[in-house]
Amino acid sequence: MLDSSAFDAFALRWLPPLEAEMRSVLGSRQTPYQPFYGMMNYHMGWLNEDFQPGNFSAGKRIRPLLVLMACQAVGGDPEQAIPAAASIEILHNFSLVHDDIEDGDEVRRHRRTVWKLWGVPQAINAGDGMFALSFLSMTRLAERGVDPAIVVAALDQFSCTCVKLTEGQYLDLSFEERLTVSVDEYIQMISGKTAALLAASLSIGALVGGASDTVGDALYRFGHNIGLAFQIRDDILGIWGDPSVTGKAAGNDLLRHKKSLPALYALEHPEVGAQLQRLWSYTIGNKQLHLAMDLLNKSDARTFAEEKLRIYHEEGMRALTDALGTQALSSPLMGLADGLLARQT
Ligand code: IPE
Ligand code: IPE
Ligand code: MG
Ligand code: MG
Repeated sequence: MLDSSAFDAFALRWLPPLEAEMRSVLGSRQTPYQPFYGMMNYHMGWLNEDFQPGNFSAGKRIRPLLVLMACQAVGGDPEQAIPAAASIEILHNFSLVHDDIEDGDEVRRHRRTVWKLWGVPQAINAGDGMFALSFLSMTRLAERGVDPAIVVAALDQFSCTCVKLTEGQYLDLSFEERLTVSVDEYIQMISGKTAALLAASLSIGALVGGASDTVGDALYRFGHNIGLAFQIRDDILGIWGDPSVTGKAAGNDLLRHKKSLPALYALEHPEVGAQLQRLWSYTIGNKQLHLAMDLLNKSDARTFAEEKLRIYHEEGMRALTDALGTQALSSPLMGLADGLLARQT
């Protein structure tokens, strides 16, 4: 029997100390640097455009919760893993600030993106600041009594993950220039840009919690597979999602010729593939967007993507059971993974 209340209770308990840790890493500084940190704090959902405090849309905080849940699931104390959780969420947010520049996206979490408000050069620099601070955050594990060897191992995994993430972003951007991309190439791309960080969230949480290599590896596999499913869902929402719910524009992926899973499937489709390829041999604008949407809808691209998503989700569940045995069923990790399957945001 699946227990989503275990997830809710966990989030209620651990989100406040997580937010406090992230605020202490990214918190406002003395003049003349307030606007620099202000941009970061805006993106985190703590400030408005005029740098006034409030509660704004802050994202789901999935990755740090994965860190803390993994730590607890292997018998560790989540309190000790808070700096690792904060580090991973700050890195994720850095990647979004830069991703919005790379993708030309003007809206995220229902608000204007950092580059849209303060320009590309300042947004690049604010992202760079967050990137560096995410590493400082990880080193704060030592202040919570985590063995220095574990801190170094966590930093090592974290650095490797940053490399994978940027490799994935490289593929994502380079695929914009191509007319066909295979499903295997797509999986390689999303393994880097998205699944690597979800997988690292699990394995770093497990590491801090004192897990054996076998359990840590199984949790990593769980994270990798739900990470793939998570990105496929993101692709679906980027085409068919409701912007008033997702907080992001719909259609931008198609305008930019992104090789999302539904799009690359439609490009090879016997009935609509040639038409979509013709359409995408030029830059398309809003006028042609409905045409691209029609072609996607005529193919069974959405069903194809949903089926793949389900397969990776199930593979993830098998890995979770390998890691936790019968405890998997009552774990908040199960509730979280299940919630991601049909998420609307
Ligand atoms: C968005 O991630 C980027 C992807 C890897 C798909 P999230 O959907 O977790 O973004 P927030 O943090 O909740 O806004
Ligand atoms: C998310 O990429 C991956 C990273 C930010 C590293 P996307 O470009 O697919 O995510 P959204 O849809 O903009 O959130
Ligand atoms: Mg993007
Ligand atoms: Mg992107």
